[in-house]
Amino acid sequence: MTEFSHLPASRAAVATGIGCYLPPDLVTNEDLAARLDTSDDWIRTRTGIATRHVVSPGMATSDLAVEAGRRALESAGEPRVDAVVLATTTPDRPCPATAPEVAARLGQSGVAAFDVSAVCSGFLYALATAAGLIAAGTAERVLLIAADAFTTLVDPDDRSTAVIFADGAGAMVLRAGDAGEQGAVGPVVLGSDGELSDLIEVPAGGSRQRSSGRPPGPGDEHFKMRGRDIYRHAVERMTNASRQAIAAAGWAIDDVDRFAAHQANARILTSVAERLGLPTEKQLSNIERVGNTGAASIPLLLAEAATDGGLAAGQHVLLTAFGGGLTWGATTLIWPELKT
Ligand code: UT7
Repeated sequence: MTEFSHLPASRAAVATGIGCYLPPDLVTNEDLAARLDTSDDWIRTRTGIATRHVVSPGMATSDLAVEAGRRALESAGEPRVDAVVLATTTPDRPCPATAPEVAARLGQSGVAAFDVSAVCSGFLYALATAAGLIAAGTAERVLLIAADAFTTLVDPDDRSTAVIFADGAGAMVLRAGDAGEQGAVGPVVLGSDGELSDLIEVPAGGSRQRSSGRPPGPGDEHFKMRGRDIYRHAVERMTNASRQAIAAAGWAIDDVDRFAAHQANARILTSVAERLGLPTEKQLSNIERVGNTGAASIPLLLAEAATDGGLAAGQHVLLTAFGGGLTWGATTLIWPELKT
């Protein structure tokens, strides 16, 4: 377990704004069943998903990120930040990073801007990065955006991934503050296991395939997932990371009011919550409407819950995520009073 006792108690990252964006186009289970060997019943029973939002032709991750970022800046009442950190697995182009363009379109030209790549754990990795920028004094205010257009990466004919993954964005504004303040991000637990990097991968398009001098194999430009193996690791890693984050924050499990986990699969979320001893009424969930939106999942969930009353100021929130890499993470937050 990670030891956090060396950390200074001051200069924490404090959440001051939240926002999200979903592209308007909607795909139902019936739409998918009309062209794939699947059914509404299979998708609902095995994943808990009924609908998902998808980008329209020509729309890119930056378009989602800019909208979510704009809403988070408005929520914070913050016209200017010192850094823009974008968590994504689906950048607009392989090079350069998408964050500088997003920053420019949000009127933040000149600030530090970079992408963080940790697949579905991206938000928590980027949150730790943003908190680090603040702790080091590099930034006073950070706009953290997590956005993915996963439907541009999955094989539309692969029923095991096409039914799960979806598009969206969520964003949070963080400022320098004190660890004891409402909204202060608790210790962030992060981990990885690269020995299992092939459980989730896009085989082509990187230096390995390009240096081979061979063109991509059929379908190798698409996202591939060994679903059942990933499922097992997701439950185990999110459960363990959650326990570590709770301990690092000095909380007990009963202190948790709301559980905001990466919306990977409804069955995974139920298993993790049961193992942690968290009752159903404490779980936040929007997977039925939005599917698995990759890095965007947690901030999208938080933004929606803050708007619809599922989350209130003062509540103790446990966040956890798991994704390709393998990567995982967890942290805690006492929800602040935010304008939504
Ligand atoms: O976002 C973070 C990373 N991702 C995840 O955390 C996702 C983790 N994995 C999962 O959510 C689940 O493993 C899936 C939803 C991908 C699959 O559910 P499962 O209950 O693990 O199914 P399975 O892969 O064990 O497949 C069971 C059966 C297979 O048929 P046979 O071999 O039993 O005849 C599959 O071919 O279901 C079949 N199947 C489908 N049938 C109808 C797989 N996908 C579909 C489908 N519709 N869409």
